[in-house]
Amino acid sequence: MKKPVRIAVTGPAGNIGYALLFRIASGAMLGPDQPVILQLLELPNEKAQAALRGVAMELDDCAFPLLHGTVLTDDAKVAFRDADWCLLVGAKPRGPGMERADLLKDNGKIFIAQGRAIDEVASDACRVAVVGNPCNTNCMIAAAQAKRLGPERFTAMVRLDENRGRTQLAQKAGVLVSEVQSLYIYGNHSPTMFADFTHATIGGKPAADVIGDRTWLETDFLPKVGKRGAEIIAARGSSSAASAAGALVDHVRDLSTPGAVHSVAVRSDGTYGFADGVWAGVPVRTTTAGSYEVLRGYEMSDFARGKLQATNDELTSERDTVKELLA
Ligand code: NAD
Ligand code: LMR
Repeated sequence: MKKPVRIAVTGPAGNIGYALLFRIASGAMLGPDQPVILQLLELPNEKAQAALRGVAMELDDCAFPLLHGTVLTDDAKVAFRDADWCLLVGAKPRGPGMERADLLKDNGKIFIAQGRAIDEVASDACRVAVVGNPCNTNCMIAAAQAKRLGPERFTAMVRLDENRGRTQLAQKAGVLVSEVQSLYIYGNHSPTMFADFTHATIGGKPAADVIGDRTWLETDFLPKVGKRGAEIIAARGSSSAASAAGALVDHVRDLSTPGAVHSVAVRSDGTYGFADGVWAGVPVRTTTAGSYEVLRGYEMSDFARGKLQATNDELTSERDTVKELLA
């Protein structure tokens, strides 16, 4: 029997939490032979804590063989103690008419205290995945607090955008989604993101050739992927939850699987023209479980470079907005 992996989740009583915990406990994230201990951090108010107790009762009632323990707490240091993964979901979602960056004022400060607590008490091998929006910049805020854990341990989630884009291409081409490969998301988890169809493949052939409609790719596909979150909010009345949880399962699983290549927002070192120190989506390959390398070799056209510039401008402007939270 393997040693259990300790997974801290913030916001476990929220919408994403409710879709996420059961998949982690079932083995979907780390595999069918990997036991887990869930360390769940909710707000201290009674409503949130009661909801958390209810979710924990349901976890119990599933009798998951891989769930070797559940910790319920309102104390970040209890939640993150010895954690191998910290999944930072707990934050306000946006409503209709808002952009994700509008959440910075309320959500940004959450990530100061949590970044500090993670650095203090999580395991030496700990990795962090930020989902709470705007996730790229919140991730930068959390990482700025870390003195012990390096910035490469802090990642933000753009995998939902990759999954969305692959499905849009598959539906347009009339193929299964598994036929669509190498669609990577660059930049911010916002409408400026660049879903790079220019290097994607469908059935092993260039996606642009298979689709055969460059205008659709530029003027339908890109905004569709970039604004899918808002489309879901308009339809559901609340933001994506099950698909976000699914993407987080994919994000953590692929970062734990040597050889897997996928889109992850990581600290920029200037690759693809992103400003040094912002968290930008790029393609990464997992090297050994626990580390990854950025795939730096994709040649970008003038069109692609324009898109990269626009999303980089937005990331640097978010960074400027929160500069007092980065000290
Ligand atoms: P929700 O309101 O349903 O749940 C949020 C939960 O977090 C609540 O239970 C709340 O009590 C808790 N919470 C708030 N602040 C907390 C804190 N400081 N510590 C611990 N818990 C805290 O929201 P949701 O739908 O689950 O979405 C959560 C976040 O994820 C939002 O910011 C949303 O915009 C974001 N999101 C990101 C992506 C992505 O692709 N990156 C996708 C979907 C949603
Ligand atoms: C999404 O992409 O669905 C999330 O970031 C939620 C949102 O605000 O769009």
